Amino acid sequence: MKERIAVYPGSFDPITNGHLDIIERARGLCDRLVLSVLVNAEKEPLFSVEERIALIRENVATENGARVEVREFSGLLVDFAQSVGAKMIVRGLRAMSDFEYEFQMALMNRRLAPGVETVFLMAKEEYSYVSSRLVKEVARLGGDVSALTPRGVSVALARAFPR
Ligand code: PNS
Repeated sequence: MKERIAVYPGSFDPITNGHLDIIERARGLCDRLVLSVLVNAEKEPLFSVEERIALIRENVATENGARVEVREFSGLLVDFAQSVGAKMIVRGLRAMSDFEYEFQMALMNRRLAPGVETVFLMAKEEYSYVSSRLVKEVARLGGDVSALTPRGVSVALARAFPR
């Protein structure tokens, strides 16, 4: 049978417990999951792509038959997805506020690559409000985000925003 390959794209700036929850759900739906980290030239991420990938690798089993790998990408997501043989794009959906942006991206991606489907997964309720953007904002202002991110990420945030 043909291998079912999925990409889970994002900025992952940085990875949160919400992302980890989606990864666990997604890996059950495919044979190979490619965590696809956007290089984002325009978005000015807090962490470099190398740092973001290192923080993911610290927290996600990606070796010895884990069937999860981490790759960086730039350019169109659908081109990257097709280059790795993926027919599925996984995105996490939190609240209704995510919907419009995700709906537009999913339809645009479908127009560009009709053979690639976007699949939305919902993280655990306790992470339904967690985003990398809010985690960074709270950390920058001195709040505690240790329950919302893996430990290495809290440490990296504390280093990025020394008090
Ligand atoms: O975690 P994010 O920042 O919400 O992820 C956004 C991402 C990476 C999925 C999106 O920006 C993307 O796919 N960028 C690649 C460029 C692209 O394909 N743009 C057209 C999408 S309709």
